[in-house]
Amino acid sequence: MSERILIIDFGSQVTQLIARRVRESGVYSEIHPINKVSERSIRNFAPKAVILSGGPASVTDSGTPRAPDALFALGIPVLGICYGQQAMVEQLGGKVESSERREFGRAHVEVTDDCELFHGVWDKGGRQPVWMSHGDRVSEPPAGFRSVAASEGSPYAAIANDEKHFYGLQFHPEVVHTPHGGNLLRNFTHRVAGCKGDWTMARFKDVEIAKIREQVGDGRVICGLSGGVDSSVAAMLLFEAIGDRLICVFVDTGLLRLGEAEQVVEMFRGHYNIPLVHRDAAALFLRHLEGVGAPEKKRKIIGATFIDVFEEEAEKAGGADFLAQGTLYPDVIESVSFAGGPSATIKSHHNVGGLPERMSLRLVEPLRELFKDEVRELGRQLGLPETFVGRHPFPGPGLAIRIPGAITAEKLDVLRKADAIYLEEIRSAGLYDAIWQAFALLLPVRTVGVMGDARTYDYVCALRAVTSTDGMTADCYHFDNDFLARVAGRIVGEVKGINRVVYDVTSKPPATIEWE
Ligand code: XMP
Repeated sequence: MSERILIIDFGSQVTQLIARRVRESGVYSEIHPINKVSERSIRNFAPKAVILSGGPASVTDSGTPRAPDALFALGIPVLGICYGQQAMVEQLGGKVESSERREFGRAHVEVTDDCELFHGVWDKGGRQPVWMSHGDRVSEPPAGFRSVAASEGSPYAAIANDEKHFYGLQFHPEVVHTPHGGNLLRNFTHRVAGCKGDWTMARFKDVEIAKIREQVGDGRVICGLSGGVDSSVAAMLLFEAIGDRLICVFVDTGLLRLGEAEQVVEMFRGHYNIPLVHRDAAALFLRHLEGVGAPEKKRKIIGATFIDVFEEEAEKAGGADFLAQGTLYPDVIESVSFAGGPSATIKSHHNVGGLPERMSLRLVEPLRELFKDEVRELGRQLGLPETFVGRHPFPGPGLAIRIPGAITAEKLDVLRKADAIYLEEIRSAGLYDAIWQAFALLLPVRTVGVMGDARTYDYVCALRAVTSTDGMTADCYHFDNDFLARVAGRIVGEVKGINRVVYDVTSKPPATIEWE
């Protein structure tokens, strides 16, 4: 088993970043929500060290969460960050107070002493930029701790107990706004916890292939290919593990982008020689969606039709024992909610969740420990071309949710052409990788224009481009005006049916990335 770090999540918005930074230091890490953590679960996980995340609660309030007391008697290093620091301090006999001087955002700490966390990164006497977000602060550290850094609002911005290898930080080392934070975390995993940092994607690939072989035995695995990065990487990995006992089913919903279906088929069948069932179900999807305008209804119809077609094709291909899915780590993490109450359903995501039970299949999810960019790295290890692994995310319901209202074959064709021009221009301007997601939409609105002295009455095309790290929040991407004018000119000039182009500048929230 590889060396692992356990991150106990107290509900911070940025806990995932701790895991990212630890993994970047070559050490495997997992996030476990505090309500699922016990002394036993920690022992079973056998971590080299534990990191306690920040969180929205206040340790000065009763009933707020604490790490199991036994954690501090296991003899393993512990790093508490923000709320995690305060909880540790309080549990070990120190004091935490609600501070009148709250610190949010950029701050500076004075490095008052050397410690293992700072080794080779921060020198005693230096002043360093950090990112803070707290109301409470440590007012008296527990016995055995010394202060190693202080800010104006926090006399104990960093504390250390060298003997026990316990450390506490009031600031957040995991965010990019703490410029050396990644190195501080690396010192914790390598110098304090003694990890070697040998968790690489190449090693992950070999271990995962062995695990798949063990899980699947002589069985057959069916894999739904969407053409996206996740399912493609999962399929490639499975193919390396079990060869032609893998059957890939690619359902062409007719809701894909220009040339997308051909690319997927060519790549899997032509280039990699992976067994692939290709079902062109465009007409069926269109028939089921005819006249349907409500976004949720469209999504549900697409999900159900997909399952029907997939099941049919899987049966024709001789059935299987397992279903492979490209589920990623962020989909698996159960984040802690202190506010309580179910969250509102904004959109029903299309997936094949209903399939395993219906077809009595067991699941194979080889990517469930990885983040998106780690999946991309794994794709590279498996030999997938860069143009493929770096693709923007594309939603399961495809272009159907980029044409508000009822869709038709004609509208889909018009949208495909506009979208291809937009992406071509983004690529040739060298902007593709700076954008999380960019796409065109076709609005159900017709407006008047004038082309070659004649009146036109055609549809409006909207363009969207956003930056994001995980799709949960997003900002509008700021193109320069010449770029947008060039794209608009090409779309109106080359795509029949569109005579006006607009740019969506809304962030998420309050909007969402897709329009439906
Ligand atoms: P929204 O529109 O909710 O989208 O801001 C966030 C991210 O999720 C993608 N998305 C989907 N992905 N099935 C998917 O696999 C879906 O049904 C779906 N709906 C939205 C969206 O493209 C964006 O990246």
